Amino acid sequence: MISIEKSYKPLTGDIFVPGDKSISHRSIMFGAISEGTTEITGFLKSGDCLSTIECFKQLGVQIEHTQRPLNGVPTITVHGKGLHGLTAPTSTLYTGNSGTTTRLLSGILAAQPFDSMITGDSSIEKRPMNRIIKPLTQMGADISSVMGNDCAPLMIKGGKRIMGITYHSPVASAQVKSCIVLAGLYSDSDTVVYEPALSRNHTELMLRAFGVDIHNEVDVRGSSATILHPGMPLRGTKINVPGDISSAAYFIVAALLVPGSDIIIHNVGINKTRAGILSILTQMGADITLENVNESIEPRADLHVRYSKLHGNENGRFEVCGKIIPTMIDELPIFAVAAATANCTTIIKDAAELKVKESNRIDAICKNLKAMGADIEPTDDGMIIHGGKRLYGTDIECEADHRIAMSFAIAGLVADGSTRILDEKCVGISYPSFFKDLTKLMK
Ligand code: S3P
Repeated sequence: MISIEKSYKPLTGDIFVPGDKSISHRSIMFGAISEGTTEITGFLKSGDCLSTIECFKQLGVQIEHTQRPLNGVPTITVHGKGLHGLTAPTSTLYTGNSGTTTRLLSGILAAQPFDSMITGDSSIEKRPMNRIIKPLTQMGADISSVMGNDCAPLMIKGGKRIMGITYHSPVASAQVKSCIVLAGLYSDSDTVVYEPALSRNHTELMLRAFGVDIHNEVDVRGSSATILHPGMPLRGTKINVPGDISSAAYFIVAALLVPGSDIIIHNVGINKTRAGILSILTQMGADITLENVNESIEPRADLHVRYSKLHGNENGRFEVCGKIIPTMIDELPIFAVAAATANCTTIIKDAAELKVKESNRIDAICKNLKAMGADIEPTDDGMIIHGGKRLYGTDIECEADHRIAMSFAIAGLVADGSTRILDEKCVGISYPSFFKDLTKLMK
């Protein structure tokens, strides 16, 4: 348990948040199936990404943690085995709490000549896997839910011929898209994945850097990712992972909410498919400026954030829905905290995916914010928050969900009395030094 007290002092100073989780996972996976070595700097050493490393070590990939000889920068070197060089694991692959590891790895395993079994913790064993079982089966893979409940453990039989497909995903999910794309790398014809809105496009951007011919198209109906010329070898490369905007979001909201705050968060990834939180908060009056913008493959910038009063439109309402939702899906818990303090009614729609994250986040957000005194109602696909009510510290049940724990630690900074995060260790899934970094900004 960790207790957070109301902050009467502004947050000040500057900070680097750890590397982006989605990019860190992919750098290991794509490096593992490439020819040659991949050198990764800025890698996120958190529970989820370490699960990915362990799984690929079990598949015979050599992965080393070293320091760059000249400047001592921590580096991960992946000695790629090529598309066809992975070896059979000797036991079940364990993905811990990581949906990204489970779903993306399944796409790769579906195309291997050997059998494998994959499972994770009690949260993973409840998350829907039909969304990948269905398209992988259409591609010719043999993948099934061992318990017959469309969840992990998943049994994947090897030696199947993978065929390219055109798939219309009912959800805008980068995990589903990436799983299909990864299996598609092994197919004998092109693969196209349509999604109702563009989900994070790290797979597309990064695979291109590894030499894959992959393209995105976006139009009014949605978006598509297409792999052309599958089967070509991937070439190992150098990857510098930017700071994770999902981790930065906690401190962005903290600085907006605690009076007088003025902070800089360095080197944060601002890929448009991830940056919905910046645009929504800015529309609500947040003072966030982007400095030192660097337009690399994955663009990044320093974020300068100052205390701001958040508000809605002239009717005192603010609606968050549609195509922006996938670009801020992991930030909705901390956004709900911001909305609870804003001078307006916020309506979040089209976010039913929140129910199938590490916890049912619609329930976890609403239950805990209500317990703190907020006026909030869950809906089928989101929530309605009548902002501006006084918040009071209370016991927060995180459901072992890292993003709920961190969001409510920030809520605690503006709540009267103490806010007790009962299961705070779960922050290690994505941000092991979260409380240390928060303390640094509060000094
Ligand atoms: C992720 C995609 C998102 C996100 C998750 C990471 C990824 O999930 O919520 O934390 O790295 O591809 P969905 O694609 O299922 O929405």
